[in-house]
Amino acid sequence: RKKDKKEQKGSTFLVLANRLPVDSYTDENGNIQWKRSPGGLVTALEPMLKKREGAWIGWAGGTSEPPAPFREDGMKIVPIELTQEDVEEYYEGFSNATLWPLYHDAMVTPKFDRSWWGKYVEVNQRFADAAAKEAAEGGTVFIQDYQLQLVPQMLRELRPDVRIGFFLHIPFPPKELFSQLPWRRRVMEGLLGADLIGFQVHGAARNFLDLTRDFLGLSPTENTVVAKDGRQVKVDDYPISISSKEYDTLARSAEVEKLIHQYLSELGNRRIILGVDRLDYTKGIDRRLKAYREMLADGMLDPEEVVLVQVAPPSRERVESYAKLREEVEREVGGINGEFGRFGLPAVDYIPRSLNRTELAALFRIADLMMVTPIRDGMNLVCKEYVASRIFGNGNLILSEFAGAAQELKEAWLCNPHDIDGMKEVVKAAWDASEEEQKRRMSTMRDHVFEYDVDRWASDILHDLGID
Ligand code: ADP
Ligand code: F6P
Repeated sequence: RKKDKKEQKGSTFLVLANRLPVDSYTDENGNIQWKRSPGGLVTALEPMLKKREGAWIGWAGGTSEPPAPFREDGMKIVPIELTQEDVEEYYEGFSNATLWPLYHDAMVTPKFDRSWWGKYVEVNQRFADAAAKEAAEGGTVFIQDYQLQLVPQMLRELRPDVRIGFFLHIPFPPKELFSQLPWRRRVMEGLLGADLIGFQVHGAARNFLDLTRDFLGLSPTENTVVAKDGRQVKVDDYPISISSKEYDTLARSAEVEKLIHQYLSELGNRRIILGVDRLDYTKGIDRRLKAYREMLADGMLDPEEVVLVQVAPPSRERVESYAKLREEVEREVGGINGEFGRFGLPAVDYIPRSLNRTELAALFRIADLMMVTPIRDGMNLVCKEYVASRIFGNGNLILSEFAGAAQELKEAWLCNPHDIDGMKEVVKAAWDASEEEQKRRMSTMRDHVFEYDVDRWASDILHDLGID
């Protein structure tokens, strides 16, 4: 395809994600400004974005008309518009009431709605069109997550010259579950438009490879599938991580130290069990509260000596199952506090909002036990953040076997969140663990988290995509 000189320009490295890596705010003069949202993904991809005239295409949140593309922090930001209907059907509907539950063990019944599917196709096409317009000849486009699974194929049709990578941040289900999806072939074919498809864990990559054989009649080998038109698609696991050194430095800072004193006195100098999760039914917050309540009731824990701090900012609030979860969790917290709290000293300190990273690091520093107990989680970054923040090398991570991170952090106190009695035993063992035992476990996990940080993730996946 012939192009004139002007058209040949564009970005040689492009990231597509449902959300932009910037948040808007209004400055003192009433003007809309943007600032980078904290997050490992953007930090990891930043060097590549800066080096290669990078651009990021995504949704700014909300439904007002988005601004024209602009530059921020060395990258071009290209906002995608979503109307109210798009948000309801593509984001809340197909992404978060169909795919999200289906890919997380169908622990909430996925809804299969044909008009949501239509909108998913339409919005994916919008992202693909924007990428096709933005990408330089022979550039690389790196697409993120379950909201955009059709984009690889759509983009390949528009721009066969670009290299396409895709990374799924959430689990990829086994055949028994994926088969439920009425549009399963379309999703598989959508993904196979990429040159590389990355998953969090080996089992997810395996599930995908098996499906290419079962649904598309292809003959995949260990890490490769030969797709239509003889293209080789690399399929592998690339466990994502955090900016470990940044967390470690933050955890040692004077601001964190100051907050620690404040928090400890506010919490009545009791030992702290911590939970930090988006308020999502996959995170197992309800099971955690149940186990904690029973431990207080059984006398395995003494409310004079312990407090559970649960930070849980509401998420996807207009999706029914999330609204229901919020009610249930808040009722249970109220129940536990009614039964075991004392005036000014709740047994559960429930914080239903986002905290900044300094506040989170201070909580990680003072938590004797960190409970990360999802029913299913693609990776889970919170547990890695806890490990990176344990600058004295002690502390106890209680981690669900069903988080991707459990494949790496094998020295955590592993638990099955479906097994309440088992979880109570694990909490008790961690509660009683000697300093020596804690350090033995934590030092191995810290070594791992520092070696396999998010920079390592980005360099591994981008290397396999053919750019360094
Ligand atoms: P998910 O992507 O499903 O929300 P992860 O554990 O992989 O779960 O990532 C969550 C990210 O959001 C982490 O970086 C974590 O620090 C951050 N986060 C979680 N809860 C809060 C909170 N209450 N306030 C601020 N950030 C939070
Ligand atoms: O980890 C999955 C994910 O969808 C991320 O992409 C996102 O940052 C997070 O969950 C929060 O979800 P949402 O963008 O729907 O608020």
